[in-house]
Amino acid sequence: MMRNPLIAGNWKMNTTLDEAIVLVQDMLKEKEDGDSVEKVICPPFISLPAIKDLLKGTSFKLGAQNMYFEDKGAYTGEISPLMLSALCDYVILGHSERRHYFMENDETVNKKVKKAFESGLKPILCVGESLEDNEAGKTEQIIIGQVETDLANVVPTGDLVIAYEPIWAIGTGKAATGKQANVTINLIRRTLADQWNKETAQKVRILYGGSVTGNNIGEFIAESDIDGALVGGASLKAVEFSSIIKQAANLKSTQ
Ligand code: PGA
Repeated sequence: MMRNPLIAGNWKMNTTLDEAIVLVQDMLKEKEDGDSVEKVICPPFISLPAIKDLLKGTSFKLGAQNMYFEDKGAYTGEISPLMLSALCDYVILGHSERRHYFMENDETVNKKVKKAFESGLKPILCVGESLEDNEAGKTEQIIIGQVETDLANVVPTGDLVIAYEPIWAIGTGKAATGKQANVTINLIRRTLADQWNKETAQKVRILYGGSVTGNNIGEFIAESDIDGALVGGASLKAVEFSSIIKQAANLKSTQ
C-alpha cells in the first residue's frame, strides 16, 4: 500500500509575524519538488492568515499547533476550530509539550480529535513515551493506551495522521534510530487495526518526530511503516527543511 509521505514543520512558539513571513519567503525560494511529498507548515496562530496568503498557488499546506474542543464561548485565550478551519488543513493535537506544560490528557486530546474531524481539520495526533517509561520497558503499554484513549469513539478514517514522538528525542538532538521508531510505529498501526480495522490502519500516515534533521531523515523514510516526519527545530531553517523534503521525495520514489 503506497501512502503519500508527509513532512510537517512544527515551529512551536518561535517567530514573530515578520520573522515568519521571511522564513516562508526563504522556504519558497528553495526549488520545488512537486507533489510527491505532502508538505505542511505549522506556524504560530497569529501568522496563519499572512502565511496562508503567501502559500497560495504553492504546494505547501498549512496547519495549526493546537485548538480547543468547543466552537466558541467564554474560553479566554483559546482558539476555536471554526477560526482554524478557514485557514488550515491540519492541526497538531496532543503534542507532548501540550501534555507536559499545559496539563492536556488523553481525554481532552480525544475531544479535540473528534472536534477537529467534525470541523473539517485533519489532526496530526502526537503520541510518545517518556524516557522513564522507555527505560522501564513500558513503551508498548503507554503507546497502546494513548492511541486507544485518544481515538475512543472516533469514526475510522484514513485522514488521520499520527506522529510518534518519543519525548526523550524531542529537542534533545538524540533521535530514535529508524529501526526503533519503526517498531513502535508498527505497533501503532497494529493497535489502529484492532481498534478500527486493517484497511483504514493501512491508510493512516504515521510519522516519526524527535530531532529529525537533514542528516537523519533518510534513516526514517527508509523504514516501511514510517510515512514521513514531524520536524521541530530543523523546520525553522529554510534550507534544511527543504533538504528534508527533497530527501523524503527522492527516497520514497525509489522504494
Ligand atoms: P524537534 O521537535 O524536531 O525539535 O525535536 C519535534 C516536535 O516536537 O514536533
